Order: sequence, then structure tokens, then C-alpha cells
Amino acid sequence: MQIVHTNAELRGAIAKLRTGEPRGRVAFVPTMGALHEGHLALVRHAARLAEHVVASVFVNPTQFGPHEDFTRYPRQPEKDAEMLAGAGCHVLFLPAVETIYPPGGSTFVEVGGVSEGLEGAARPGHFRGVATVVSALFHLVAPDVAIFGEKDAQQLAVIRRMVRDQHFAIEIVGHPIVREPDGLAMSSRNAYLSAEERRAATVLHRALERVRVAVAAGERDAAAVRSLLRSVLAEEPAGAVDYAEVVDAESFQPVARLGGRIVIPIAVRFGRTRLLDNLQLTLGEEP
Ligand code: PAJ
Repeated sequence: MQIVHTNAELRGAIAKLRTGEPRGRVAFVPTMGALHEGHLALVRHAARLAEHVVASVFVNPTQFGPHEDFTRYPRQPEKDAEMLAGAGCHVLFLPAVETIYPPGGSTFVEVGGVSEGLEGAARPGHFRGVATVVSALFHLVAPDVAIFGEKDAQQLAVIRRMVRDQHFAIEIVGHPIVREPDGLAMSSRNAYLSAEERRAATVLHRALERVRVAVAAGERDAAAVRSLLRSVLAEEPAGAVDYAEVVDAESFQPVARLGGRIVIPIAVRFGRTRLLDNLQLTLGEEP
């Protein structure tokens, strides 16, 4: 695996992939590092979709709010590099902040609608930062396909909308959520949890599984699903619910009835740590 830091090095490495043997597609997995099995599953999937796999590790300052965890976000580039190489990554892009954001830069990518509720409402400016950095990375790497986790379902919907609206010739592939054995969705931020919070955090997955059972039994009323979520989440009083919603998978707007492609996203705070999880369902028309 080749590690590159500057735009010139990256362009050189990509040009080599594009012109050398074997010929083939380039798949891209953007990350903020502190990698875990969830990220590595994306990389392994990328290796199945394309001959060449490029990953980036960049803790993107513009997607963190002023009082968020940008400075204390875990950073472990050497360990990340080792893990990526083991998962089948060929080129790792590890840029400095000035490499991605030229001094004096003043251009941002704003995706309306889909980025406004839920995470967008809880973290003003977050999706503007995400869309801006992903757009910049897409221009630099120019991949054929990019893989994102369904763990961040609203982020995935924002990226899909940006790619469509801005005519990026990049296929966007979603990958299912990778979980710990007890059901907790893997996240770099799980490292912030105390032992007691870590135990309590399994309530997110439990709440979503209760919804899965209710929907399988015929529940289609979004208000009933929301209150079921809140009642299960209340079993762990240490967790403060930010939101528990039922939204259309594409627009991320709340729905009244469950049908078609929907996402049931939840966000719960344990102390200073916000945890996200969601359930994605595709339901036929109601009888
Ligand atoms: P990060 O949180 O590092 O996540 C990188 C990618 O890994 C995202 O697509 C995320 O959805 C996916 N991922 C994280 N945990 C996962 C899990 N348990 N199962 C499946 N996929 C998982 O998301 C970001 O970074 C940033 O916002 C980024 C897109 C890199 C832009 O800065």
C-alpha cells in the first residue's frame, strides 16, 4: 500500500493505477480514521467492486461544530495504515488540513432539504462540512465508485443528492451497518463511553429490533413506531434521546405511514457522547 500526503502525490498514484496493469475501476472509501471493523468492511467491499482501492483518513474540521470533539477525536494514522493495508487498500491519502482547504478558501457545498432535519438540525453546518470535504475528495481521487456506511444514513442520502445534483460521475454504494456482538453499531466514538455507558448503549439496537418485530407484525403507523422507540430507549435513563424518527430514505422527511423505502434513525446522548443508529426497511404497498 502506498501512502500519499499531498495532492500531487495523490494524482501521481491515481495516474499510475489508471495507466498501469491491471486496468480496472478505482473504488474510494473516505474516513476520519480511528478505524474499526465497520470501516474495514467498506474497504473489503470496495476491493470486491473494483481492482484498485483508495482510502482517505482525514479528520475534517469543517464538519465539527465549535464545541464538538474535533481536537479530541481519536487519531492513530500508523495503526489505521496497517489495518487498511490488511483489508486490501492500495493507496492511502493522508492529507493535512491545508492540503484539502487552501488558505483563504471560501467555497462550500450546501445540500438543501435532505441535510436540514435530524443530524442537520442537531449539528448546524455539519453536512455543509461533510458535502464540502467529500466533493473536494471526489475531485482529487476521481473514483469510479465510492462506498459509504448505512450507519450514517442521512450522510449517505446527502452524498447521493450531491452526486446527482452536481453530476459527479461516481457510483455511490451503501454498506450495511457493522455491529459489535451485542448489537451496538461500531463507531470511532464508542471509545468515549464509560463501562456503564457502553453497557447501556445496547439499548439503541434493542429499540430498533423491537420496531422490526412490530413492523413485521403489521405496524405501519409512524407515531406508534416513534413512541415504541421512545419507550424502549427510556429503559436506559442515562441515555438522552435527541431524536427517534421515521423518514423517507431519499428525502429524509418524516412520514406518517410506513411504506416504500424508509429509514428509522435514532440519536441518543450518553454524557458527552452522541450515538447514532438506524433501521432501513423496504415495505410494499399497504393492502
Ligand atoms: P467516519 O465516521 O470515519 O466513517 C467513514 C465511513 O465509515 C462512513 O461512510 C461511515 O458511514 C462508515 N461507517 C462507520 N461506522 C460504520 C459501521 N459500524 N458500519 C458500517 N459503516 C460504518 O463518515 C465519516 O467518517 C465522515 O463524515 C466522512 C464521510 C469521511 C467525511 O469527512
